[in-house]
Amino acid sequence: MTQDRRNARMGEIWILGATGRIGRTVTAKLAARDADIVLVGRDGDRLRKTAADAGAPDAKVLISDSVEHMAAEIGSRRPAVVVNTLGDYARTATTLARACMPGGHYVDLAADLDALPRLLGLHGEAVEAASTLVTGAGFGVLATEAVVAELCRDRPAPVQVRVDALGSVAMAAGVVGEAFAAAMVDMVTSGGRRYQDGHLVRTRLGADLRNHTLPDGQTAKSAGAPSGELLAAQGASGARNVVVTTGLAPTSRIVRALLPAFAALLSIPRMRRLAVRQLARTAVKEAPRPRTHSWGHADITWPDGTHREGWLRAGDGMDYTADVLTETASRLARGEAPAGAYTPAAAFGPGLATAAGGTFILDQ
Ligand SMILES: NC(=O)c1ccc[n+]([C@@H]2O[C@H](COP(=O)([O-])OP(=O)(O)OC[C@H]3O[C@@H](n4cnc5c(N)ncnc54)[C@H](OP(=O)(O)O)[C@@H]3O)[C@@H](O)[C@H]2O)c1
Repeated sequence: MTQDRRNARMGEIWILGATGRIGRTVTAKLAARDADIVLVGRDGDRLRKTAADAGAPDAKVLISDSVEHMAAEIGSRRPAVVVNTLGDYARTATTLARACMPGGHYVDLAADLDALPRLLGLHGEAVEAASTLVTGAGFGVLATEAVVAELCRDRPAPVQVRVDALGSVAMAAGVVGEAFAAAMVDMVTSGGRRYQDGHLVRTRLGADLRNHTLPDGQTAKSAGAPSGELLAAQGASGARNVVVTTGLAPTSRIVRALLPAFAALLSIPRMRRLAVRQLARTAVKEAPRPRTHSWGHADITWPDGTHREGWLRAGDGMDYTADVLTETASRLARGEAPAGAYTPAAAFGPGLATAAGGTFILDQ
């Protein structure tokens, strides 16, 4: 790679899916930071309206309705940073991340155990290409990974880590939508995961149920799910035993009892498609967020019996996700991370979580 080609790439930040919920917010936040943004999506009128609403009516727009076309445009126009808010990360992330190389940087919001390892698997290629790829730059992965990294700072690997992602999100009126519906159905069929003696093993979806009393006195429930927080917490701690739970997993006793039957039914491809279609169309009523704060939580035990607990407090989980993405994209544009493929705190340290507006509450 020539030095000229690398330098030419420091400049534009492309927002793929700029008309979506997160995309619109990130567009406005990056515009407020005077970033050189390009809005990418499938509808020119909606892209221009998003740019105008973001206070950047003259921002460039690129109309594109396929990952392959976006990848080709990235390859020829060489943006400095690509922010992927398209979703379906197991399918979209590696194609788009590869298009950024050499020299360009990439960030996405993946949070599942299919997409995260695939993107992290590009580490060697990214180092070689002097590119930084960040996956999981949203509430769940960062809010838990950052607490683990803080608690484990200057300590040996613990024996046991438990992380809990307890998002609180305001709902806008609309429908559930395809991406979220598919993620929920796939959670039921894949079951939970945990690290046991250094191996990733299956667990029951809804295992490790806990009723939390939060630092602000409110309460929340969470249970085990196949979630990307698991990989990030394992990487940040080096622990051989890691458990992850989320507030998105089913916590009611009746639903958890019915899960094996649902899982068997939904593993029939026709039933899965039907369930995703029905769930995607389900109406969502406008509602305020259920709790004042979103919380990331970690409980850690070391071989000598030392135990530490910590929390990261944030506001609305979606707003915090947009702040994490904005801060990550800005840092990538300034070339502040080492080359390679990382989860967010692995790339920038746990301070990213506070730079995005979170607050640590750690014991001791
Ligand atoms: N990790 C986390 O903490 C976290 C938090 C929040 C969200 N997420 C994930 O981030 C993703 C985005 O969330 P969101 O709420 O912003 O979703 P959203 O509102 O559905 O936005 C998705 C955007 O991508 C666009 N898009 C999708 N496929 C496309 C294609 N083939 N060509 C062109 N544009 C395409 C959509 O375009 P149209 O507007 O034309 O439909 C829309 O603008 C989802 O996968 C969500 O699960 C993760």
